[in-house]
Amino acid sequence: MKKSIIVTGGAGFIGSHVVRLLVNKYPDTRIVNVDALTYAGNLENLSDVDSADNYAFRKVDIRDAAAVDALFAEIQPEGVIHLAAESHVDRSITDPLAFIMTNIVGTVNMLNGARKAWDGDYEGKRFYHVSTDEVYGSLGETGLFTEETSYDPRSPYSASKASSDHLVRAYFHTYGMPVVISNCSNNYGPNHFPEKLIPLVINNIKHGKPLPIYGDGKYTRDWLWVIDHAEAIDVIFQTGVAGETYNIGGNNEMKNIDLVEQLCDVMDELLGNELGASRKLITFVKDRPGHDRRYAIDSSKLQRELGWEPKVYPKEGLKMTAEWYLNNEKWLENVTSGAYANYYEKQYA
Ligand code: NAD
Ligand code: DAU
Repeated sequence: MKKSIIVTGGAGFIGSHVVRLLVNKYPDTRIVNVDALTYAGNLENLSDVDSADNYAFRKVDIRDAAAVDALFAEIQPEGVIHLAAESHVDRSITDPLAFIMTNIVGTVNMLNGARKAWDGDYEGKRFYHVSTDEVYGSLGETGLFTEETSYDPRSPYSASKASSDHLVRAYFHTYGMPVVISNCSNNYGPNHFPEKLIPLVINNIKHGKPLPIYGDGKYTRDWLWVIDHAEAIDVIFQTGVAGETYNIGGNNEMKNIDLVEQLCDVMDELLGNELGASRKLITFVKDRPGHDRRYAIDSSKLQRELGWEPKVYPKEGLKMTAEWYLNNEKWLENVTSGAYANYYEKQYA
């Protein structure tokens, strides 16, 4: 292999799509998936590419600085695409420290590992930090987040991601490390862990369980098809300007209640239910504390400067997502039962 790229969090939702894209697109580059395999990490997500010659996996917890240093010493990567994180807002409300440790300390360990390995020689090197639109806080009825919007994180999750963004920028200014950052809106698609809204709703409809909608359901998110995000990450990694930030968005604002109703109708059609049957499961529940009202992304910089644009819109994407979950019952069962840990034991014994 001519060069190696480390992708952290490659066993997770977005990371697995990024790894698949890179393994298939760059056969001469070794793609090293680095993941601690927390509850959200599932190597089964990569079963279609894990025997490729240019794919490797290392089980490393990025909270462990010595393990991260050893990883860099072994792999000597030209680039890092850093996705590993605790990613669920609700979990950050019950256990903020886990988010501080992985999202902040883990990111600093990755930056330090790269700094030591590269030792000031940044020619051909790149550290790409994948972040979220949640760092910008909450919008009112109008307006969009741009790259210039001031940071205003409001959950322990978004505060930990904001902190990691600041640290990544600090390594650019202080050490000259060639970093690039992207801030993306809500992703959806295959392999999404069923604690997040869309797969949770699909799973609950399957089991005839209530569909919990927080508060009044009028909270708004900007939904992006996960493979569109993976393609944006590839474009930014290859052609983004060091020190720059790029917003990534789906151009697809939807209120939660509208999204869930649309998904109910898609599920009714696929399951052969009477139209409206799934909507009856919608149940308004206690709101999420500190719930951000509205996110919407202006991704015109990325479109203008690097030529990326989203290709899949929810009308089509929600149906493809629902179909994927219905066709991958075993995946869903394994994830919900925790049995996917056995896959790792078998594959890497
Ligand atoms: P995910 O929770 O599905 O996956 C996270 C992955 O990181 C898992 O494979 C997990 O095992 C791994 N991980 C967690 N802690 C680790 C540790 N200490 N050491 C090594 N690996 C560890 O998350 P996701 O939804 O795929 O998000 C990936 C990245 O994208 C995150 O940085 C997140 O903040 C960002 N992001 C997500 C979205 C979204 O809608 N899901 C949107 C914008 C940005
Ligand atoms: O905006 C990007 C972010 O999107 C990422 O940085 C996060 O990692 C990712 O988890 C996601 O965060 P959200 O909090 O927006 O996603 P979630 O799927 O948890 O919730 C989407 C919306 O649905 C939000 O307004 C909360 C609401 N919701 C969520 C759940 C789980 C409900 O109404 N009911 C639910 O049961």
